[in-house]
Amino acid sequence: MPLIRHIAVLAFAATCIADRASAEVPPVEKANEAKTGEIRMLRPDLILQSLASPESPVRREALIDLGRCYAKNPSLIPGAIQLLRRSANDPAFDVSLAAVEAAGLMGTAESFLAIADVLRAPHTPAEAAKILDAIDSPSLRPFWKSSDPYRVSNFIDNLNQKAQRQHTLADLEAITIPEPTPGVISSGREAFRTARCDACHRVAGYGRATGPDLRGIGMCYSNTELIRHILQPSLDLHDVGRFEKFLLSDGRVITGRAASTDQSQLRIQTDLSNPESVVTINAADIEQRQPSKVSPMPVGLLNSLTPTQVAELVVYLRSDGGRLAPPAASHEH
Ligand code: HEC
Repeated sequence: MPLIRHIAVLAFAATCIADRASAEVPPVEKANEAKTGEIRMLRPDLILQSLASPESPVRREALIDLGRCYAKNPSLIPGAIQLLRRSANDPAFDVSLAAVEAAGLMGTAESFLAIADVLRAPHTPAEAAKILDAIDSPSLRPFWKSSDPYRVSNFIDNLNQKAQRQHTLADLEAITIPEPTPGVISSGREAFRTARCDACHRVAGYGRATGPDLRGIGMCYSNTELIRHILQPSLDLHDVGRFEKFLLSDGRVITGRAASTDQSQLRIQTDLSNPESVVTINAADIEQRQPSKVSPMPVGLLNSLTPTQVAELVVYLRSDGGRLAPPAASHEH
C-alpha cells in the first residue's frame, strides 16, 4: 500500500485506544485487539469488518468496540450512528442488546435515538429486563428520564410491566457505586420506594418503621455486605422483631410476630408491610412455639430494580438518606 495511506491507517489505529479500567463491559479476548498491559488498541477497519460477520457473538463484540472507539473519538468511524441503528434492528437479540450497551458507551443523544427501535420491539420478560438494565445507565438516563424529550416513556412503561429479572449476588457485586450526589440520593430514595423498602423501614424520617431502623447501616456493612443482606434477608436474623412459628393443634402453622397478648388469645402479625394482616389464635391451641429461621423481610425485592437503581439505593442507605457523608468504604466497588 502507498506509504501515505499506510501512515494514515496507523494513525487511525493508534487513536482508537480504550483502556480496560474505563470500559463498562467485561473485556473479551479476540483477534481485534493488541494488548499492552491494560491498554487495548482497536482498529476501526476490523470493527467494521466484524460488524458484518455472520456470527452474532462477533457482531456483538464489534458493537461494544464501536461504542468504545466512538467514546474516544466520534469522528473515527464514519457512519457509526447509522451502523448502530442497523444493529439495533439485528435479528439476534444479543446483538440489539449490545447496540444499547454501545449507545451507553457513546452517551450522546444521537446514539440514544439510534437504539429507540429496541424499546419498541416485542420482547420476552427476560429480554425486557435486560434492555431496561442496559438503558438505565447513568449515561443514557438523562435522555429518557426527565420530561421524556424522545417520547419513549410508553415503551419503557411497557417493558417495565413485562420485565422479570433475577439478580444474583455476583451480578450485583460487580456494579459501580456512584458518588453520593444529591441527584443520586434522590434516585436512591425513589428506588427505596419502588422496591417497597419503605413499607417496613424508615430512613431519614421517610417510610414506616415496622422493621429495624437502618440508621447508620453504612457503618456496619460494606457495599457488598449491604447488598448481600438485602438479597438474602435470612442471612443474619435479628432478635428484635423476629418472627415465630406457631404450630396449632388443628395442624395449621402460623408464622408471624405476636403483636398483642391477653391471657387466652394471641394476635399474630403475619406481614410487617401490611398492618391489616393479623391472625388471632387461641393460646390453648398452640402445640409448639419456636423462633422462625426465615426473616420477615421478603426475598426478591431487588428484582424490581435495575442495577443502576440498586447502586443508588446502596448510596441512599449508606448516607442515611443524604444526612451523612458516607464512610470511605463506599468507594469500594
Ligand atoms: C416486610 C417488611 C420488610 C421489607 C419490605 C423490607 N425489609 Fe429489610 N428487614 C426487615 C426485617 C424484619 C429485618 C430484620 C432481619 C431479620 O432479623 O429477619 C430487615 C433487615 C434489613 C437489613 C439488615 C439490617 C441489619 O442491621 O442487619 C437491611 C440492610 C434491610 N433490611 C434493607 C431493606 C431494603 C433495602 C429493603 C427494600 C429492598 C427492605 N429491607 C425491605 C423487614 C423488611
